[in-house]
Amino acid sequence: MKQTFLVSSAFALAACVAVLMPVAAGGVDDDGSPIFGVKLPAGYRDWQLIGLAHEAGSLNDLRAVLGNRIAVKAYREGTRPFPDGAIIGRLAWRYVPSDENNAIFGQVQSFVPGHATNIQFSVKDIEKYANTGGWGYGQFEDGKPNRSEALMNTCFPCHARANKADDFVFTRYTP
Ligand code: HEC
Repeated sequence: MKQTFLVSSAFALAACVAVLMPVAAGGVDDDGSPIFGVKLPAGYRDWQLIGLAHEAGSLNDLRAVLGNRIAVKAYREGTRPFPDGAIIGRLAWRYVPSDENNAIFGQVQSFVPGHATNIQFSVKDIEKYANTGGWGYGQFEDGKPNRSEALMNTCFPCHARANKADDFVFTRYTP
């Protein structure tokens, strides 16, 4: 009786593992960007501010560039190339007028972040990303990686156009 129970438990367990395995493997893949495997870094919203930008035209967004401790230290000390472990994040939101603030000012002058569009990360690892200047790239929408390989293939060719002395990074530190 006991043995039958053990055997059937073992079968049940094996069946569970067989069902769960593909899900688990898919789950790991789903966390990372294509090609580079960059994952949404934990705690990035607490990182420090490096700079800001506003893109007009079809993007029409507001963007903040944040860095982890390694990236911010390198910025402040002017260390280039950035050391391994440096991560720079670019958060973007729609650029929208604020009716609430404009009512206070009595004229249209206030623009604020609307809904989030996407977040991009550049991750420094000189060995892992040797073919792309030591940088791995990822883009996330609603916390999920964008799965387009074609999009990932646009990152480095454009960033390679930054000044070489800036280590393929465009944003300057805003004091
Ligand atoms: C057409 C050129 C172009 C492409 C393609 C591009 N970027 Fe950028 N990126 C820029 C420019 C210019 C800036 C600085 C101004 C800004 O933020 O709009 C920038 C800023 C950034 C920043 C902030 C740090 C820095 O280098 O200034 C990150 C992070 C970033 N991009 C990641 C990515 C990722 C990830 C991709 C691919 C999904 C990508 N970029 C594709 C041109 C590009």
